[in-house]
Amino acid sequence: MRKRKVSRKGLLIAFEGIDGTGKSTQIKLLADWLRAQGEDVLETREPTDSAYGRRIRELYVNRGACTPEEELELFIEDRKLHVKELIRPALNAGRIVLTDRYYYSTAAYQGANGLDAKQILQRNRFAPQPNLVILLTMPPELSAERISSRGGQLNAFEQLDALRRVSELFASFSDPWLRRIDASQPVSSVQEQIRHAWRDLFSPEES
Ligand code: TMP
Repeated sequence: MRKRKVSRKGLLIAFEGIDGTGKSTQIKLLADWLRAQGEDVLETREPTDSAYGRRIRELYVNRGACTPEEELELFIEDRKLHVKELIRPALNAGRIVLTDRYYYSTAAYQGANGLDAKQILQRNRFAPQPNLVILLTMPPELSAERISSRGGQLNAFEQLDALRRVSELFASFSDPWLRRIDASQPVSSVQEQIRHAWRDLFSPEES
C-alpha cells in the first residue's frame, strides 16, 4: 500500500445519496478491502439504534406523526449521541469510521421536507467534518424502481416526488471533500471509484 502523506488521528468517511443507491453494499466492500490491509475499521449508520433512531423509524410508516421541525430534532439528537458515543471515541482511537449517512442526509431530506438546508448544515456544526464524503448519485426514478424490485415498499421518506427534491438538494452541495460517483454503474466499477477516492486522500497528485 502507498505510504500515507498525512499523519492521522482517525478518518471519517460518510456515504450519502438517495435510497436504493447501494450505499450499504459499497460500504461493506470498502470495509473488507481496508481490513485486508490491516486497517481498523468501524462500520456504522444513521439513524442509529438509539431511542431517537427508534422514534425516527416509526415515522417511516406515519411521517405525519410529527412536524418537520420535530422530525429534524430527532435526527439531530440521534446524531449528537452517535458522535459522542461512537464516532469521536473511534476517531480518537485512530480508527477509520465508515458511516452510512451523516449530516448531508439531514440537509437533503429535511430540506426537501420544507426546512432550510443551509441552516440544517449549520445546526450540525457539532459533528466532526468528514475527511471524505462519497455521494452516490442515481436518477430518482431508478432508485424508486430498485427499492420496489427488492420487494420493498417505499417508506414515507422515499416517495418519488420527495426523492426528486432530495436528489436536487444533494446535487446542490459543493464541499471540497465531497466526491460524486454515478451509482447506476455496476457495483464493481462504483467500488473501484470509491477506492480511487480513498487513495486520493493520501496521494492526490497521483490520481
Ligand atoms: P436507510 O436506513 O435505508 O438509509 O433509511 C434511512 C431513512 O432516513 C432514509 O429514507 C433517509 C432518512 N434520513 C433522513 O431523512 N434524515 C437523516 O438525517 C438521515 C440520517 C436519514
